[in-house]
Amino acid sequence: MDLPKGLAGVIVDETEISSTAGGKLIYSGYPIAELADSTYEEVVFLLWHSRLPMKAELEAFRKELVSEMVLPSESTRLLLYVAKEPQHPMSILRTATSLLGTTNNVKQDEPPKILAKMLTLIASIVRIRQGEPMKEPDPKLGVADNFLYMLTGKKPTLEHAKMFNTVMILHADHEFNASTFTARVVASTSADYYSCLTAAVCALKGPLHGGANERVFRMLEEIVDNDADPIEYVKDRIANKLKVMGFGHRVYKNGDPRAAILRDIAEKLAKETHNEKYFDVQIKIAAFMLEEKGLHPNVDYYTALVYHCLGLERDLFTPIFAACRTAGWLAHVMEQRRESCLIRPSSEYVGPKAREYYKDHYVTTKGDI
Ligand SMILES: CC(C)(COP(=O)(O)OP(=O)(O)OC[C@H]1O[C@@H](n2cnc3c(N)ncnc32)[C@H](O)[C@@H]1OP(=O)(O)O)[C@@H](O)C(=O)NCCC(=O)NCCS
Repeated sequence: MDLPKGLAGVIVDETEISSTAGGKLIYSGYPIAELADSTYEEVVFLLWHSRLPMKAELEAFRKELVSEMVLPSESTRLLLYVAKEPQHPMSILRTATSLLGTTNNVKQDEPPKILAKMLTLIASIVRIRQGEPMKEPDPKLGVADNFLYMLTGKKPTLEHAKMFNTVMILHADHEFNASTFTARVVASTSADYYSCLTAAVCALKGPLHGGANERVFRMLEEIVDNDADPIEYVKDRIANKLKVMGFGHRVYKNGDPRAAILRDIAEKLAKETHNEKYFDVQIKIAAFMLEEKGLHPNVDYYTALVYHCLGLERDLFTPIFAACRTAGWLAHVMEQRRESCLIRPSSEYVGPKAREYYKDHYVTTKGDI
C-alpha cells in the first residue's frame, strides 16, 4: 500500500473552524485578508462561536478576557523559579503550561480564562527572564494591545497595536496543523484543556512548525552581521541539504496568504525602526527561493522581522506564536470535545513477520550449540 507520508493530503475529520482549501485561508467562512484589520478578541469570538459578536458581546468578551489576564499567586511563585532557568523559553513554556493546570481549577476553567492566563503566562516568562517587573493589564486596552504591553513594558502606539492585532489574528488558527492536531488527539481522550495545550506547545516547539520564526531571524542576523551575500548563504544551505527557514508549506504550494499581509507590515516597521537591512535581505532571498526552488515564504518568514522591529527578542518569537495560536487550539479542543470520539488511527505493519519466539530465544540465550 502506498501511504502518504506525514498524513499529507489526508482528510482526517471535519471542522467548522477554519479552512486552507484551494490555498485560501478562511476562518469560519471569512477570508483572512478581510479579518486582518479586526481585533484579536473579535476573531477569537468568531473561532469559538462560528459567528461575529454583536457590539455589546464583543465589549463584554474583551472585558472578560482582560480581567482574567492575571495569574494566581501560586502560578507566579512557581514561574519565578522555573522561568529563570537557562533553557529555551519554549521549554519553560512547556513546563509552565503544565503548571498552569495544577495551579488553576482544571475541572471548572473555561476557554476565556485559559486563553487570558496563557497570554499572561507567556508575558511573565519574558519579563522574568529579562529581570523586569510584570505589568498589570490595562482594563481600557484590547487583548492583543495588553499582551504587547505586558511583553515589552511599554504602552504600544495605536499603529503598533493595530499591527500586532493583525499578526495575532493571522496566527490564531490554521485548521489541522501539527500542534492543533496534537491538541485534538489529546482532547479526544477526554483530557482537560491544560493537558491539550501542554501537548500543543510541545508540537509547536519544533523547527519545522512554530520554531521556524526564530531561526529565520537567526539567519538574517548571520547574514547582516557578517556582511554576507544572502544568495551565497542560501545556496550554501541548499548545497548542504539544509532547509532555508521560513520557506515552503505542507498545504500552500503557491504562496501562504498570510505572508503577503505580513510582508507589508514588516516593510513598514523596518522603515520606521531603521531595520531595512534585514528586509532587503529577505526580499533578495525570497526572489531567489522562488526562482530556484519554486518555494514561497510562509507565515514565519516576515513575522520574524515584525517581532524584531517591535522590540521582541529572537528566542521569544515561538512563545508569542503559541500565545496567538492558543485561541485556535482551544477552538479545536472544544470542537473535538463536542464530537466525543477517540482519535485512534491504524498503521500498516512493515516489521518482521511470522517469527518463532521459543526457537529464537533458545538461539539468542544458549547460542547454537
Ligand atoms: C514546512 C515544510 C516542513 C513543509 O514540508 P513538506 O510539505 O513535507 O515538503 P517537503 O519537506 O517534502 O519539501 C518538498 C521539497 O521542497 C524542499 N523544501 C521544502 N522546504 C524547503 C526549505 N524551506 N528550504 C529548502 N528546501 C525546501 C524539500 O527539500 C523537498 O525537496 P526534494 O523534493 O528535492 O526532496 C518544509 O517546507 C520546511 O521544512 N520548511 C522550513 C521550515 C519552516 O519554515 N516551517 C514553518 C512552516 S509554516
